[in-house]
Amino acid sequence: MSGRVLLTGGAGYIGSHTCVELVEAGFEVVILDNFSNARRDVIDRLEVLTGAPVICHEADVLDRDALDRVFAAHDFDAVVHFAGKKAVGESVAQPLDYFHTNCTGFSNLLQAMDRAGVRRVVFSSTATVYGKPEVLPYPEDHPLRPESPYAANKLVCENLLRQVKAADDRWSYGILRYFNPAGAHPSALIGEDPNDIPNNLMPYIAKVATGELPCLRVFGDDYDTPDGTGVRDYIHVVDLARGHVQSLKLLIGQDQSHIVNLSTGQGFSVLDMLRAYERACGKELPYEVVGRRAGDLAAFWGDPSRARDLLGFETTRDLDDMCATSWAWVSRRKNS
Ligand code: WQD
Repeated sequence: MSGRVLLTGGAGYIGSHTCVELVEAGFEVVILDNFSNARRDVIDRLEVLTGAPVICHEADVLDRDALDRVFAAHDFDAVVHFAGKKAVGESVAQPLDYFHTNCTGFSNLLQAMDRAGVRRVVFSSTATVYGKPEVLPYPEDHPLRPESPYAANKLVCENLLRQVKAADDRWSYGILRYFNPAGAHPSALIGEDPNDIPNNLMPYIAKVATGELPCLRVFGDDYDTPDGTGVRDYIHVVDLARGHVQSLKLLIGQDQSHIVNLSTGQGFSVLDMLRAYERACGKELPYEVVGRRAGDLAAFWGDPSRARDLLGFETTRDLDDMCATSWAWVSRRKNS
């Protein structure tokens, strides 16, 4: 299958891995990124990985004129939308900024797409739209009760897509609800590259393993889980990227809209992740148990069956793969 695809936020962690998988699947890819949370040299590394020039427009989805210029320059078949802010804690402190970037930005993008006659979009959503689990694993028809401004932004965007399609059936969308992305590309040329102290578990452990941070703080070990620490559904970023390829193929091939979890269906604890990372880096990693983090849920994981049935998507990489590829990436990054 072929097609020309715009990746907004394509220089970021998940976007860059999706760029590689799309090119490998035969798609032409154009990136739009404002580089607010990505380094410019990732484009050079993407060119090494894809073996071809990577067209990148430095622009913001909030810039309507810039969007129109990009759509006028390329005849796109679809858009994969990653650009946005994604830190739950930060969204609590900055709800207006988050709404502006994540919701107004997305509305801008959809309007530019409509003006250009491009009406297929894969949307990067999140499992946190479900909120407190009534049942586990989360099915896609679980009640939607987001508990942070970030998760609420994502639900606003999901609802906007449903409303746009109800008003104009020429639209089709793939809403992908991510669980916990982790790991890096096996080449160690791209990976998660946080500018500051990471909020998420794996990049934090990675910085402890490289010596950039002294010790992992385990946020609570008194949860109702096997070892008392939080349990999550970690999915390898390359598996996640391949889920986007499958979603795009369903849109371009059959214009069939869909909402699916991208998950492994299995949960692992904080200490499971720590032990796996110790195996990957070959050394014991220091940690201390501290109080629970506000807003954290004890445990959640996703039901992967609809993605399997609709997209033919199944994850193939496990926790050790996530840690081994992360360790190779941060080791190379630190020495480069
Ligand atoms: C995982 C577990 C923590 C850091 C968030 C967003 C979600 C998605 C993924 C965007 C929890 C524990 C963590 C640390 C710890 N992002 N932890 N010490 O909170 O499940 O999900 O990132 O889509 O929307 O909500 O991920 O990696 O922050 O936490 O003990 O230094 O690790 O308590 O149990 P989370 P996380």
